[in-house]
Amino acid sequence: FQEKEHSKPLQGKNVLITAGPTREPVDPVRYFTNYSSGKMGYAIAKAAVALGANVTLVSGPTALTPPPGVTFLPVESTAEMLEAVLTRYDNQDVVVKAAAVADYKPKRVLSQKMKKKQDEWTVELEKTTDILAELGKRKQHQLLVGFAAETQDVEHYAKDKLERKNLDMIVANNVAQEGSGFSVDTNEIIIYKKDGSKQAFPLLAKEKVAYEILEVAMDLMGR
Ligand code: CTP
Ligand code: CA
Repeated sequence: FQEKEHSKPLQGKNVLITAGPTREPVDPVRYFTNYSSGKMGYAIAKAAVALGANVTLVSGPTALTPPPGVTFLPVESTAEMLEAVLTRYDNQDVVVKAAAVADYKPKRVLSQKMKKKQDEWTVELEKTTDILAELGKRKQHQLLVGFAAETQDVEHYAKDKLERKNLDMIVANNVAQEGSGFSVDTNEIIIYKKDGSKQAFPLLAKEKVAYEILEVAMDLMGR
């Protein structure tokens, strides 16, 4: 009995994971987005299911199939992701924000397709809502896990986000480094915790990275 209990350490826990990019339309046929494949978030969702959690996967558009056993909530824009996450936040024990959320969106969304009449087209962008920062502000009992995608000064920026967004831990990766980041199947991460400690990992398959992240989270939960 003990062994079985041990193999499902997240049994009874509600875990919400966001994954993939978000997509910000500018007209009915065009949008702004980023290179996120969703692989890291989907791997975490799959691992959390295997560890026994009730998993909700809120995902921007990706080419991936949702892992069996998750409650799947597809979204497109940052505003849709924000709504999907906020309405389910109270019930969650752990929230992992692996999504690569668009930082800016077109100020105006054209109702008709833009025709190529002009040689130049300037699109004005404005900031989207920082979903993770909102979750940090409203945090009660939840364990909040953020990501930091950096191309330089990884430790400095990751620690800044950890503090500023009121996170319990942040998973930092250098997306400019070979073998890490958006489209590849591997990732080399460093986890910073709010007690100031850090844990560096070697280059690993994203499936393995997913377990390592949840291991650290479970440790913080005292599981
Ligand atoms: N994030 C979010 N909502 C946004 C932007 C980011 O929830 N509008 C979350 C991401 O899901 C990630 C974390 O914030 O967990 C950090 O994202 P990142 O892009 O690394 O940092 P930003 O705070 O957006 O800052 P910058 O892009 O300038 O580095
Ligand atoms: Ca960003």
